[in-house]
Amino acid sequence: MSVKYESIVPWGRSFQEYVNMFNLTFDDLDKSILSCGDGPASFNSTMKKSGKTVVSIDPLYNLNRRTIEKKIEETYETVMGQTKYNEDKFVWSTVKDVEELGNIRMTSMREFLSDYETGKIENRYITAELPYLPFENNQFELALSSHFLFLYTENLSLDFHMNSIDEMLRVSEEVRIFPLLDMNAVPSIHLPYVVESLTKKGCKVEKIGVNYEFQKGGNSMLKITK
Ligand SMILES: C[S@@+](CC[C@H](N)C(=O)[O-])C[C@H]1O[C@@H](n2cnc3c(N)ncnc32)[C@H](O)[C@@H]1O
Repeated sequence: MSVKYESIVPWGRSFQEYVNMFNLTFDDLDKSILSCGDGPASFNSTMKKSGKTVVSIDPLYNLNRRTIEKKIEETYETVMGQTKYNEDKFVWSTVKDVEELGNIRMTSMREFLSDYETGKIENRYITAELPYLPFENNQFELALSSHFLFLYTENLSLDFHMNSIDEMLRVSEEVRIFPLLDMNAVPSIHLPYVVESLTKKGCKVEKIGVNYEFQKGGNSMLKITK
């Protein structure tokens, strides 16, 4: 069986997962960070608690807290089901089974929900949708994409990927993307074209190993500097 999502689901990871996925150093955490397709991840909330500011964008943020909470509840069954049927595609070491995974994710998403309304008022959660970002050129030092680009290769075209990365590079000095695999833990078919095209444009493009592997073989990120 293969993993397939008809649409892009709201599902959220933790601060520590972001640190590991993107090799975020103490210096990185002090940068002005834009996190794209951040959904119900708790990275923004935890950063705020330690006195740092992240701006997250996601089309999900046009909904109120209660509606997002309901969407998360609906998504829970779908993601748990797909993960259970595809257990062999994941590394069960840090997380021991699907049930524990569900608990970890729900803890992160509850943290997001508790911060959501305040974060909206503080403009930390902004409704926006790649490939367009409502920001000035070079407004950020670092732009992140976790579990959106490359992962949804079946749902999002190569053009969408190129336009989205160009837009992230317009508003930020550097872009980091994780994972480089699609839903079925296969390297995204878009990756070679993206790397070639960005390199031709004069960007520095590096595939960097990271201390995070949940999808089997999914332990590198793409770092793009313009
Ligand atoms: C699987 S979630 C990942 C959430 C978070 N980044 C993480 O890793 O925990 C994918 C997110 O992409 C968002 N999304 C869908 N279309 C988008 C678009 N065009 N631009 C930005 N985000 C989008 C969804 O709403 C969803 O919250």
